[in-house]
Formats: sequence, structure tokens, C-alpha cells
Amino acid sequence: MAERLAFASSMQASTPTRRLIALDRHRVRSRARGFFSLFASSSTETPSSVDPDARPPPRPALKKPHVDGRRQFSDVPDGLASVERIVTDAQVRTFRDSIRGKLLLAPLTKGGNLPFRRLCVSLGCEVTVSEMVFARFALKKNPVELARLRKHDSETLFGVQIATNQITEGVNAGRLAHEAGADFVDLNCGCPIHETWKRGLGAALLKKPRKLERLVRGIADGIPIPLTVKIRLGAGSSEAPAHALAEAVENAGAAAVVIHGRTKEARYTKAANWETIGAIQAERGIPVVGNGDILTRYELNDRMGISNAHAAMVGRGALIKPWIFKEAKEGIDWEPSAEERIAVYLTLCGYFQDHFRADELGKKRYMEFMPWHFGFFCRYRPLPEAMYGEMASRYPLLQTRLGIVAAKEVEGMDGDELPALERLLRCESEEAHARMSEALWDALGSVERAVELFEDIAKDGSLERWEREAEVARRSGRGGDEGMGGGDAIRG
Ligand SMILES: Cc1cc2nc3c(=O)[nH]c(=O)nc-3n(C[C@H](O)[C@H](O)[C@H](O)COP(=O)(O)O)c2cc1C
Repeated sequence: MAERLAFASSMQASTPTRRLIALDRHRVRSRARGFFSLFASSSTETPSSVDPDARPPPRPALKKPHVDGRRQFSDVPDGLASVERIVTDAQVRTFRDSIRGKLLLAPLTKGGNLPFRRLCVSLGCEVTVSEMVFARFALKKNPVELARLRKHDSETLFGVQIATNQITEGVNAGRLAHEAGADFVDLNCGCPIHETWKRGLGAALLKKPRKLERLVRGIADGIPIPLTVKIRLGAGSSEAPAHALAEAVENAGAAAVVIHGRTKEARYTKAANWETIGAIQAERGIPVVGNGDILTRYELNDRMGISNAHAAMVGRGALIKPWIFKEAKEGIDWEPSAEERIAVYLTLCGYFQDHFRADELGKKRYMEFMPWHFGFFCRYRPLPEAMYGEMASRYPLLQTRLGIVAAKEVEGMDGDELPALERLLRCESEEAHARMSEALWDALGSVERAVELFEDIAKDGSLERWEREAEVARRSGRGGDEGMGGGDAIRG
């Protein structure tokens, strides 16, 4: 607040600037009035009653909107002063309290589908985030983007992540998310993929902290729920921008900043830098949610200890072992047997059936997701703290191919000696993932039946071939870490 007052008084220096501020205030007040009247009756309205194309009243022509050649931030006027918020300080405080010390589920394109989030909630996750939603397409009522706004009843604190570089679009998409049940909105400032970057979205927003600040302030001012901002350490290969970016997000009045401890260029090749996350938490007042490379409870404790972050967020760790939330919440290590894991996967299958229906069309849609999930599930290995704790404190377990070796050491046997069921669950072949998904569907909710069907698959002679093919793919670099987030399909 003090900084904002100082900023406002420094702006009173010249008459044209004063006029600019007065006009901005006028614009902002009338915009806020417009929004208040919209929300006055929102509790009785259905999501469809919100006109996603509704725009704030036209802004007086102050000066040409800033355009930097790539249509970035094109509706973010310079000198936009802060306004009275729709969201109250009390709401923001409550939100901050309710995420404190928690392990949040990261926004995960494809992976963060509603049935998977429901599974995570059933295993102890208390804060969930949607897949990334392109604000513009959602406002144009694109059904795929609109579907991403849907929240399950069991999700008690659910955020919708949006990608936008325009205040108006962000505000309207935030309102849409709110009407659909979101408890908070998260702004994506980390997506490295080309289609996002070239539109000036995602990680491109990290290039100019001052502009990011205006964008975040504008969206936070116009939506009735808290706004969080998910950033990386920088848009290039330098980690230095992270400090200025977090400062910008704090000054803009976001409720929290989520920091994925890598730069855009680093992708998943380097370990997430929790020291930098910690340094930012120490120098800033805004709650920092640390993110990157958490696979075990002891890694979570270690990284939280290093950083003193307000909360942590997990992505790939949840995709590999959704029970990581149970471990974090109950402070235990859980190394489920093959049968227990099959029971978890069967629960997910049931949630897909609830979501898509248990008919032929539903199965077709389920098969677009479940084999993909097996691409992560198959990477699960028991990694007991006694054996791996020390190693994990030096280098994240997720960043290594350690798991393959680990399994043999832990269980005191060679890979070939593992029970066939265990080998099947670890198999990286896509054909195996499709067969297991089919078996879960056919098990009709019975764990015993699912285990039987899995054992049949493991014994029918395909497993050896799948293992050989997967090994060849891994050696040629086709398997490996693409599925762990190196691929260009990843939006984070
Ligand atoms: C399959 C997949 C999809 C992702 N999709 C998104 C996304 O839509 N939005 C986003 O901000 N980050 C996305 N990310 C990045 C994650 O949210 C997270 O920041 C990153 O994976 C680091 O956390 P982790 O080491 O716990 O996986 C995605 C990551 C993966 C693996």
C-alpha cells in the first residue's frame, strides 16, 4: 500500500499526468460499478447467464495503447493506477491461510482432467488447479476450453488457470471461471510451448516485469476471487529475473505467486532451484508457492525446509503417484503393492466412467486419457527414505533414471526376477498401457477382477516383447524423459 501511495504521489508531478490518472480513475470506477452490478445477482445465476463477451464500458481515449510489435499487453495502458478491489482483503487472507503448508496439485494440461483431480482429492489433495484455459477461446465459447472450467463437487479449493495477456480478456475469463465455481484464478506465466509464446502468452509474460505488473493488477482488480500468478525463474536461461518478477506480482496485489524453480530455457533438464524460491520468499511479503521436482514426502520436507515457502505444488510427482497427497497430509511413506496400485487406478477408471459415462462413447473418450496416465503411473518405484533420502537431498529423484535401478536394489532382485504383475505395471510400452486401461474398464469396479485381468495380460507372452520394445525406444531416446515433461505438449 505504501508503495502504491508513493507511486501515486510521484505521478502527481505534472498536469498531463494528473489528467491521465483522473481519466483512469473515472474509467476504473465505472468499470468497477459495471462489475458490481453484474455480480449483485450472480449467486442466483447459472454459468450460462454470464455473457462472456461482456466488456467493461469503453475507456476514454487516453493515448494509444502500448503495442510492442507482437500485440502483447495491447489493452494495458501505461500509468494505470490501482483501484478498489472487488475481492476483499479478508477473502485474500482466508485464501492465503487455506493454502498455507499445503501441497497443491499443479495445473497439468491433459493430466489435470476432472477425474484425475477427483482422484487426487480422494487421496488427500486439498487444493486443485485446472488445466490451462486459453481465455480468448473460452470467451468464444470453445467447448473444449469451457469444459476445463468444470469443477467436481469434492474440490473444495479449486483454481482455474488462464492464459491471457490482456486485462479485459483476463477479467472476463476470470468472471466466467468464478461463475463456473472456481475459488481462485491462476495466471499462466510459464508455458514455454511455441504456440503460446508466439502469441505473447505464458512464459512470454516474463519478459517485462513492469508490464506483467499492470496486467496482474488489472485482472486482480476486476475479478471477484483471488488471483495467483504462476511464473518460472525467467524467460531465457538466466534465473536473475525471478526476483523482479515476484516483486511485480506482489506489487500488483496477487494473492500468491507460484514459482516453478526453472527458467523457460531449462525446461526439465536442470533441477528446480529451491534456493532461489527461498530467497524470494525471504525478501517478499507475498506468499510463495514453491514448485519443482517433488516425488517423495522427504523431498517435500527437504525443499520446504530449504525455502521456507508458504506452500508447495506438485505436478509430475502426482501423475506418477497420486497418493503423494496422502503421504504429505498424513506425514507417512506409502509404498503400495501392485494390487493396491491397481485399486487406485481402478478408482480413476470409475471416475472417468462417471464423467464420460460407462458406454461406448465414454470408453472411447476414456481411452484418450487412461493410457496416457499409465505413461506416468509406470514410472512409480518404491524409493524408501533410508536408502534414497540422502541422495534426494542432493539431487531430485525425478530428475534421474534412478527409479529403474532403484527397484532392483530395494527389492534385492534383478528386473527380470520381479513378479510379472509388477513388471507389467512398470512397462513403458504404449500397447501395454492400452491393454491395462481396457482391463480396468472391463473389471466393472472389482479390484479382484482387475488384478486377475492384469495377471492374464502379464502371462500371455506380450510382456517380454513390450519390455524389449520399450528398452529399444528408451535407448534411441524416443521413450525416456519426453513423457516426463520434455515434450512440447507440456504447457507449464
Ligand atoms: C503433463 C504436464 C502438463 C503441464 N501443464 C501445465 C499447464 O497447463 N499449466 C502450467 O502452468 N504448467 C503446466 N505444467 C507444468 C507443471 O505445472 C509444473 O510447473 C512442472 O511440471 C514442475 O513441477 P513438477 O516438477 O512437480 O512436475 C505441466 C507439466 C506436465 C508434466
